[in-house]
Amino acid sequence: ADQQQFDVVVIGGGPAGYHAAIRAAQLGLKTACVDAALGKDGKPALGGTCLRVGCIPSKALLDSSRQFWNMGHIFDQHGISFDKPKIDVGKMVARKDAIVKQFTGGIAALFKANKVTAFYGWAQLQPGNIVKVKQHDGSEVELKGTNVILAAGSDSIELPFAKFGEHIVDNVGALDFDKVPKRLGVIGAGVIGLELGSVWNRLGSQVTVLEGLPNFLAAADTEVAKVAAREFKKQGLDIKLGCKVTNTEVKKDGVHVFYTDDKGEQEIVVDKLLVCVGRRAATKNLLADGTGVKLDQRGMIEVDDHCHTGVDGVWAVGDCVRGPMLAHKGFEEGIEVAELIAGLPGHVNYDTIPNVIYTEPEIAWVGKTEEQLKADGIAYKAGSFPFAAVGRAVAMAEPAGFVKVLADAETDRILGMHLVGANVSELVHEGVISMEFNGSADDLARICHAHPSLSEAVHDAAMAVAKRAIHKA
Ligand code: NAI
Repeated sequence: ADQQQFDVVVIGGGPAGYHAAIRAAQLGLKTACVDAALGKDGKPALGGTCLRVGCIPSKALLDSSRQFWNMGHIFDQHGISFDKPKIDVGKMVARKDAIVKQFTGGIAALFKANKVTAFYGWAQLQPGNIVKVKQHDGSEVELKGTNVILAAGSDSIELPFAKFGEHIVDNVGALDFDKVPKRLGVIGAGVIGLELGSVWNRLGSQVTVLEGLPNFLAAADTEVAKVAAREFKKQGLDIKLGCKVTNTEVKKDGVHVFYTDDKGEQEIVVDKLLVCVGRRAATKNLLADGTGVKLDQRGMIEVDDHCHTGVDGVWAVGDCVRGPMLAHKGFEEGIEVAELIAGLPGHVNYDTIPNVIYTEPEIAWVGKTEEQLKADGIAYKAGSFPFAAVGRAVAMAEPAGFVKVLADAETDRILGMHLVGANVSELVHEGVISMEFNGSADDLARICHAHPSLSEAVHDAAMAVAKRAIHKA
């Protein structure tokens, strides 16, 4: 095969890979990016899981379903009435697909503008920093990179007794149902289960979520998880904890899901079953023999603190390496590595990566939870403020939730911020920025926040840390 020479060859055009490729090209490096994915139209689609079947399409459906839900449940409070709302699922999905196409096409345009050469096909790293690409047209090409950045992403974990198909789906299938399933089963009450479970629940599905762990949202702050569980229950999401799913069977009347809980053996029958029990690094067939790149037990590429694999010129970023499987974590690592290759300082602060779950209310946090601080033996102060006392939130008919600020007992430095409520996906960045600048709770409390705005909950929570809250009854 003919061989082409590049300064940087990126494998994977998802969040981590396209950030790496564009930044490298901007820094004057001759850059190629290889991606194998095809869009729904069968044409190459850049952007990875996030753009094609993750972050962006799920947010489109969350927004559509939220409008529908509000019409049936919230509009009446505003004095607005109309005939029963109807949902055209085909139209909703088509809108989602158009948004996806706009953004995947946007990456292709950015590649062009920045002179990143795109190759469409399956790439495998060979020894000596050679990337062999089997292109969709059947031809092969070899790319030799002075640097190679592996950004292969992740795949859904499949349970051996619940093979994906027409009725049992992962996130990809659950973004494309052709009608609202009457009964939707979900295995795993994690981020995907809660977000996509919410979408179909709002549109009328009877949703049952089976979670293996005994605690709901174990990674989140306990009080946040408690408020979220209460709100989801009110919305009709049936979340069952401590369930061990043992088998599934697709029959005429639906998917039978067998599980055991503390009461013994149980069975539910659903029309569709969404399995979302986590993802694993997509490193199968990525590395030929003899590259020297190491995988850990879970198939993740081993890297150091700066995403270097230990093999000269070979780096790895995003979901296929340690750390949270979040698009924005991948963005930062992609930029970091491109800048390091160009001889600039590159760094990711893993302590200030925000977490967001786009349910209603939204859930977000940054930094340590109270549970983690206790486990680490760090003395801290906490201040909370409820959205029910924030005029703007009540005016928006979204009074659920609160903001909690955690600060070091001695230095007052902010160690974590935990939020549940309206638009907290945006508000969490007050915590991110404060922590990034080593801010204290008192710093945040002395910053003037606009009234009326949701951000007042952050301000008042920070004031509550020093026990000088104004709006406390
Ligand atoms: P997850 O790790 O968030 O949740 C998986 C859930 O399944 C956990 O609660 C786990 O205890 C449970 N579980 C595991 N095995 C089980 C079993 N056999 N039976 C019952 N329950 C079981 O993973 P999820 O939701 O699949 O998402 C995958 C990745 O995608 C995550 O890393 C997440 O961060 C990312 N993602 C992020 C989003 C966001 O940031 N808003 C949105 C969607 C996904």
